[in-house]
Amino acid sequence: SSSPASSSPASPSPASPHFIGTREYVIQAQRVTKLVNGCRDILVLYHQGELHAMDLRCYHAGGPLQNGDIEEFNGQSCIVCPWHKYKITLAEGEALYQAVDNPTLTPLRTRWCSKGVKQRVHKVTVVNGNVYVTLNDSSEVIESDAYQTEKFRANRFKG
Ligand code: FES
Repeated sequence: SSSPASSSPASPSPASPHFIGTREYVIQAQRVTKLVNGCRDILVLYHQGELHAMDLRCYHAGGPLQNGDIEEFNGQSCIVCPWHKYKITLAEGEALYQAVDNPTLTPLRTRWCSKGVKQRVHKVTVVNGNVYVTLNDSSEVIESDAYQTEKFRANRFKG
């Protein structure tokens, strides 16, 4: 029996660890992009002693997160997408934005808010000095899933 070809966006399963590189290599590179399991472009980041992994293309319009700066907002390390400067937490893939409390007050008072998890983050493990990523196979649809398609894969490493 044959199953129908899966339609895009590609499913992130199965949840098994995929080798990314040695820990030493990833730390030196700080950012490693990789097509995992033939179906998912991810970005592995080393920042302040911690490893993180997330979908490579920004949930907003598919921007190349590997070229984004990392900055702190509201006490959270975020990657700032180079295209429209959206901020995404490294830890959870949460989208942060600044809300204005009362637009009639000057100077404007702003506070950080979350739009919720918009970028799919993946699990990083280190075993015997090697870095592995296990894809987050949650069936919940996350906005960055939309850019894990053949169309976007074709130009995945363009900035
Ligand atoms: Fe990332 Fe627009 S594509 S902020």
